[in-house]
Amino acid sequence: MKIIIINGPNLNLLGTREPGIYGNTSMESCLEELRQRYPDTDIRYFQSNHEGDIIDCIQNNGFDEELSGIVLNAGAYTHTSLAIADAIRAISAPVVEVHISNVHSREEIRHRSLISPACKGVIAGFGMDSYRLGVESLIHK
Ligand code: DQA
Repeated sequence: MKIIIINGPNLNLLGTREPGIYGNTSMESCLEELRQRYPDTDIRYFQSNHEGDIIDCIQNNGFDEELSGIVLNAGAYTHTSLAIADAIRAISAPVVEVHISNVHSREEIRHRSLISPACKGVIAGFGMDSYRLGVESLIHK
């Protein structure tokens, strides 16, 4: 079983970025924990601050028949990117939208997601555990 986690802009700074909102855990330790928990699952990871690179990654992986799905935290592009939504619609692999914070309890601009309608489901507000829940939603389907 193969899953790819894709993180968007500023999520390379997890662990130090606004710890009151996003916590102190780095993505590296989150990935280490996930790989330990699911040793039989090939958990790949990609992060970019650039919209086009995220779209390329979605396109390059989204037709892989061995891929169980994509766990996507598009960061602020969640709220702005019709292009990422279109890329999700274009591929065959399911995409689970995740957010570390509960975007619905934050500023109004974060309440709207352009990508949610194209995704299989949405997980938000469970801290770094949102990634685990996203991975599990693809493993236990
Ligand atoms: C985020 C929420 C977004 O609104 C924000 O722009 C992020 C992170 C989250 O994981 O909570 O960069 O996607």
